[in-house]
Amino acid sequence: MDLCIIGSGYVGLVSGACFAEVGHHVICVDNDQRKVDALQAGKIPIYEPGLEDLVHRNVAAKRLRFTNSIQDGVDHSQVVFIAVPTPPQVDGSVDLTYIERVAREIAGVLKPGEYRVIVDKSTVPVKTGEKVADTIKRYNKGAEFDVVSNPEFLREGCAVPDLMNPDRVVIGSASQKATDLMKQVYEPFRAPILVTDVNSAELIKHAANSFLSLKISYINAVAAICEASGADVEMVADGIGMDKRIGRNFLNAGLGYGGSCFPKDVKAFIAISKQLGTPFKLLEEVERINDSMLDRFIAKLRDSLWVLKDKKLAVWGLTFKPDTDDVRNSVAIELVNRLVAEGAHVTAYDPKGAEKAVEWKLIDPDKVKLAPTPLDAVEGAEALILATEWKEFVNQDFEEVKKRMHTPLIFDGRNQFDPETIRGFGFTYHAVGRPNG
Ligand code: UGA
Repeated sequence: MDLCIIGSGYVGLVSGACFAEVGHHVICVDNDQRKVDALQAGKIPIYEPGLEDLVHRNVAAKRLRFTNSIQDGVDHSQVVFIAVPTPPQVDGSVDLTYIERVAREIAGVLKPGEYRVIVDKSTVPVKTGEKVADTIKRYNKGAEFDVVSNPEFLREGCAVPDLMNPDRVVIGSASQKATDLMKQVYEPFRAPILVTDVNSAELIKHAANSFLSLKISYINAVAAICEASGADVEMVADGIGMDKRIGRNFLNAGLGYGGSCFPKDVKAFIAISKQLGTPFKLLEEVERINDSMLDRFIAKLRDSLWVLKDKKLAVWGLTFKPDTDDVRNSVAIELVNRLVAEGAHVTAYDPKGAEKAVEWKLIDPDKVKLAPTPLDAVEGAEALILATEWKEFVNQDFEEVKKRMHTPLIFDGRNQFDPETIRGFGFTYHAVGRPNG
């Protein structure tokens, strides 16, 4: 099929490449000319495992191309996906100005007699589909189209496998014609398809992300009880996770959730529920627990080191999760900045995120030293903090780490190390919700 994706960010670009991989012809549109130029030159603006190969292969096979022209994309596609950002506003509600602008732009290029399915892939509040349809009608009275909601569930860091093998595809549609075309789009993925009305599909996305955030805050609250009682949150998570109704996924205690989705979507769902007159107070508690995790962790550092001012600290990890270069709303970055604000001398290492952290001015390179390797980061450190669970951190030579550090003290913010092994090397080891933590 001929598809167009408006917005070449994490969702748009990976979706476009995966649609091309299964045989569709895809045009990715972006209004950032620099990004389009880079993509046309074969440069991928984000790090996502497997993405570069996928893009190069499908561009070479002429199934994938990039443009800044919505006209070009819409003219040559049966189905037009919208995958532009929906950032939060100060009050937590969603800023829909990009969606509205794209809806107007699509209206401006739709031609009479040329039916199109307009698909919203961005995460949007319930009832946005209705507004997109009204907007297109208002700016183009004769346009023939249907608006469909098709939320995306990919995780950064494993976006390609998530897209190629989705647990489910949700199609929110009020038109059989549009539903049939959408089923054709997804047919090659052989995934279970759930067809709903548009409002339900939109709600599924916010409800899913909020539920996963709730699971994380739940286990983090349990971790606090474990710390107070001497129990081990990892054993508790295993024990409750073995119940199939609960499941072990997303029960990893740590510094809390970050990134460009969970914090924003929980806030948005709280705002939506208030606007609809049915406040979702449980989610306010989810947020409160998440916000408290960093305070609790820093308090633990102070317990051991007393005053953080002038302490030499090493931090492993800056991205909001492993296998990505995304540093937006990263708890690791917030941790680094709070340590620096207390006067600590921080040296950080991250396999992929350091460059963007500086480029996006999320850390000040005059205040945070960036090390080229994990071992360089720990040189002379009075404590090592693991903030993001990149696999390479677990496989370090800990004899060498200990030799290079001033004091053998580790704070594991993601419960990555085996306590016995790491203590066996002679480290004092603190984790989250674990005995002697
Ligand atoms: C999340 C959802 O998992 C995706 O299904 C969704 O499509 C995406 O948001 C989105 O809305 O676009 P993502 O933010 O990429 O995906 O990453 P996750 O793997 O969900 O991790 C989010 C945060 O939760 C990370 O900071 C991670 O460290 C934290 N987390 C995750 C925990 O603290 N504990 C866990 O057990 C799991």
